[in-house]
Amino acid sequence: MATYAIWNNKGGVGKSYLTFQLACEYARTHPGERVLAVDLCPQANSSGMLLGGMEAGEQTLDELSSRTPRRNISGYMEDRITSPYVNPKRGSGYVLQVASFNRHVPKNLYLVPGDEQLEVQASRVLAATNPGPPDAWRIVHTWISDLIADVKQSWNTKDATVFLDCNPSFTIYTELALGAADRLIIPFSSDGSSRRAVRALLALVYGIARQQGAQQSQYFLNAEQYRLPLPDIYCYVGNRLTQYIKSAQAFKAVVRAIGDEIWDVWRSNSNRFYVHPSGALIPSGRKAFERMFQAEIPDANTASVVSSSLGIPILALTAGIKSVAGKEVMVNQSQLDRQQPAMTALARMIE
Ligand SMILES: Nc1ncnc2c1ncn2[C@@H]1O[C@H](COP(=O)(O)OP(=O)(O)OP(=O)(O)O)[C@@H](O)[C@H]1O
Ligand SMILES: [Mg+2]
Repeated sequence: MATYAIWNNKGGVGKSYLTFQLACEYARTHPGERVLAVDLCPQANSSGMLLGGMEAGEQTLDELSSRTPRRNISGYMEDRITSPYVNPKRGSGYVLQVASFNRHVPKNLYLVPGDEQLEVQASRVLAATNPGPPDAWRIVHTWISDLIADVKQSWNTKDATVFLDCNPSFTIYTELALGAADRLIIPFSSDGSSRRAVRALLALVYGIARQQGAQQSQYFLNAEQYRLPLPDIYCYVGNRLTQYIKSAQAFKAVVRAIGDEIWDVWRSNSNRFYVHPSGALIPSGRKAFERMFQAEIPDANTASVVSSSLGIPILALTAGIKSVAGKEVMVNQSQLDRQQPAMTALARMIE
C-alpha cells in the first residue's frame, strides 16, 4: 500500500478524472482497506466529482469551505502555516467519508477536499520554507506526509492506499504532494504538446535535463540536499485516446513518443522506477517495459461527462438516459465498453 501522486506538468490531461476513477475503483475492489484521496489542487475538481459532481459536489465543497476552520486541505494548511515545524497532529479533522455525501462511492473511501484558498496560502507556505530552522525546507515538504500519518493514526492502521490529485503547475503545493508520494502516475493526452510536458516533469522532479549544462530545478537540488525521497515512476497513462480508426495511428505515435522519453529514463536511471507487481522480474526489453509501465484509457465521451458530472464512477455507471443539469442525455453501452475494461486494468495495477 502506497501513496500515489497523479501529476503531469500540463493541464487537462485527466489528473482529476483519473484520481476520481482510480480511488473509487481501488476502494471498491479492496473493501477491507481504507482509501484516502487528498486534493492538492485549488480547482478541487476531483473533490467535486467524488462528492457528487457538478451540482451536489460543488455545493458540498462550498459548504465545507465556509466552515471555520475550513473542513478541507486549506484548513489543514492553515494549521501548518501557524505551526510549520511542529506537527499539531490535527490532520484527521479534515478528512471525511465520501459515501456520506455521495451514495455512488464505496464506504471505505475518504477525502481531504481541495479548496481554491490554497492559491492564496501558497506564498505563506513558501515563506515557511526559508528562513527557519536549518531543515525548514524539508519539514514543510513533509506536511502532507504528516497529514496522511495523522489520518492513518486516527484509523489505527499503518496501511492505507492514498491518491494525491495535483495542480498542473509546479507550485509549492505540487511540491508538497510529490514530497509525500511514494509513487508517481503520469497521465498524458494525445496532443503534440504532451511530450514537452513529460520532459518538463522529468527535469523538474528528477533533474533529468535534455540540454547539457541546463540549470537544474531547485526542487530536485533541495530534495537531494535535504534527503527528501522522490516518488518512483509507477506508470504513464495515455488518457482520452480516442478509438476512431482514422486517427488511431496518430495517437499511437504520441504514445510511442512519450514512451521513448520514459524509456530513455529507464535505460539511464532504472532506479527511478517502481517495478511492479511486487515480485515481477525487471523488464528486459521495450515490450516488457511497456507492459509494466504503460497504460491507456480511451475516451468514453458522454459516459465520461455523465460520470464526472454526477459523481458516479465509470465502473458503477449503467447505460441509459441520465439527467445532467436538467438535460436528458444518453449513455451508450458502447461508450462504457470502451473505458470500463481499461479502467479496471489500471486500477488493478495499483498495489
Ligand atoms: N478518459 C476520459 N474520457 C473522457 N473524458 C475525460 C477522460 N479523462 C478526462 N476527461 C475529461 O477531460 C477534462 C479534463 O480532465 P481533468 O479535469 O481530469 O484534467 P486535469 O489534468 O485534472 O486538468 P487540470 O490540469 O485543469 O487539473 C474533464 O472534463 C474530464 O472529465
Ligand atoms: Mg485537475
